Amino acid sequence: MRDETTTQPGHEWWRSAVIYQIYPRSFADSNGDGIGDLPGIAGRLPKLAELGVDAVWLSPFQKSPQKDAGYDVSDYCDVDPLFGTMADFDALLDEAHGLGLRVIVDLVPNHSSEEHEWFKAALATGPGSEERARYMFRDGKGANGELPPNNWESVFGGPAWTRTTNPDGTPGQWYLHLFDSSQPDFDWTNRWVRDRFIEILKFWLDKGIDGFRVDVAHGLAKKAGLPDFLRDEAYWLTKPEDRPENPYFGNDGVHEIYREWRALLNTYAGDRVLCAEAFVEPLTKMAKWVRPDEMMQAFNFPYLVTRWVPEKLHKVIDDSLAAFHAVGAPSTWVLSNHDQVRHATRLALDPSTMTADRITGVGPLTEPKPDRAEGLRRARGASTLMLALPGSAYLYQGEELGLPEAIDIPDADRQDPTFWRTNGESYGRDGCRVPIPWEAEKPSLGFGPSDQTWLPQPAEYREYSRDLQEGVDGSTLELYRTLLRLRHEFGLGTGSFEWLPGFPIEVLAFANNGIRIYFNMSDAPVPLPEGEVLVASADVASGSLPAAAAAWIR
Ligand code: GLC
Ligand code: CA
Repeated sequence: MRDETTTQPGHEWWRSAVIYQIYPRSFADSNGDGIGDLPGIAGRLPKLAELGVDAVWLSPFQKSPQKDAGYDVSDYCDVDPLFGTMADFDALLDEAHGLGLRVIVDLVPNHSSEEHEWFKAALATGPGSEERARYMFRDGKGANGELPPNNWESVFGGPAWTRTTNPDGTPGQWYLHLFDSSQPDFDWTNRWVRDRFIEILKFWLDKGIDGFRVDVAHGLAKKAGLPDFLRDEAYWLTKPEDRPENPYFGNDGVHEIYREWRALLNTYAGDRVLCAEAFVEPLTKMAKWVRPDEMMQAFNFPYLVTRWVPEKLHKVIDDSLAAFHAVGAPSTWVLSNHDQVRHATRLALDPSTMTADRITGVGPLTEPKPDRAEGLRRARGASTLMLALPGSAYLYQGEELGLPEAIDIPDADRQDPTFWRTNGESYGRDGCRVPIPWEAEKPSLGFGPSDQTWLPQPAEYREYSRDLQEGVDGSTLELYRTLLRLRHEFGLGTGSFEWLPGFPIEVLAFANNGIRIYFNMSDAPVPLPEGEVLVASADVASGSLPAAAAAWIR
């Protein structure tokens, strides 16, 4: 059973937890319509308990027209029929808690769906109304308001403004959408918006959920006057600490919002958690989101996006521990999620192939095609290193199977708005969102009872099926299970960190709670230091640590 007591500050579960991200559409389908759902998830939870994770985070399953796979919410306190009912959610929560798993729910406060009642009312009532003041409506520039209010671009490509049509058919005001045009941004300076979200938080907290993952937690406050700003090539090539201030991401105004949320969470028992998706750099800035009176965790994106470059990995580990510890927060670690190229593919890419903007920058991964075997070796090594680091780690469904990115999705099957908004220039994120394989010989590889899947599963996914890996020595699944068991046994999540001297830069070597961890990022084997090998990502029987491999030694 889940422990419901509130612990002494400094000892909360989330400081060292391993949290597994479930992407509901692609995890398990119970009714054969090709889309994963809540009963599907509930049925598979025992597998996650067996894997050894502490919590699950569910990407959005709330009511939504699904223009951005649920990150466009039209009712924050209801379940989308695509995924089931509120009773299904309650059952899932009970099932998880019974298995000792905590449940974190995705909250999308930067924008709603265009189909939310509030936005529909804003359109219907017209300029100057109370309803409009909940969103970011502005008059256009130019003689007839035909130009957007400023030059901001949507993260998904194209302009960040869309012009409305007045009830009488004439062209009207413009509204801001940092993402798709179906995702209008709220105006968070409006107390009304803040109060509604306090109610939404309470609704889920009262149900007994263990916390929220907060979407676009760096975007809620916009700089007054909405000054022009472009993230062009030069911007991305500038070091994060030297970049000009971004008027829509990372503004200080967000912090008072989270202080209010934190105060609310503090009134609930059981160490509820807020985890920020605050995609800001450098890490010292990100750490502001997890000061003692704000959120508890922030996704470590600088760590995630670090390429296969040993010097950079060294540095980001040092910077992460320093930045988060300076504010009394644990560091988090993460290698994959639903917005990024899966790390079993990404780590085999030439480090210079991707631009800095990760959502729109994931171009066609065709030239040259990353080597799957090499990618898997590197991913296993990288995960073996990550799970030995002190702090909290996030896993993304399928990485425990060693799943690669689905690269060759036919254009006609693509669903990510990024693909459509950039006219196919950017492939977007569908490749990491393909339904995962459970059983090699079943229809849809055991994803559901039919052969339907909302994105096509590539032929090679069969060989990664979970049932082919269960109980198989050396499989990626068994590697993850062993890592999670030992991480727990040796208290590595709450442990210490110390680099071990005497190794070349390509070999990362550190100690945590008496365990020594070695990661060989060179392309040749290196001698394995003396000691009892507890776990290794590759065969080390010969006494050497192969290229790309990592090992834990006592
Ligand atoms: C976050 C989500 C992403 C979504 C975007 C807009 O970055 O992780 O999937 O598209 O916010 O809500
Ligand atoms: Ca379904």
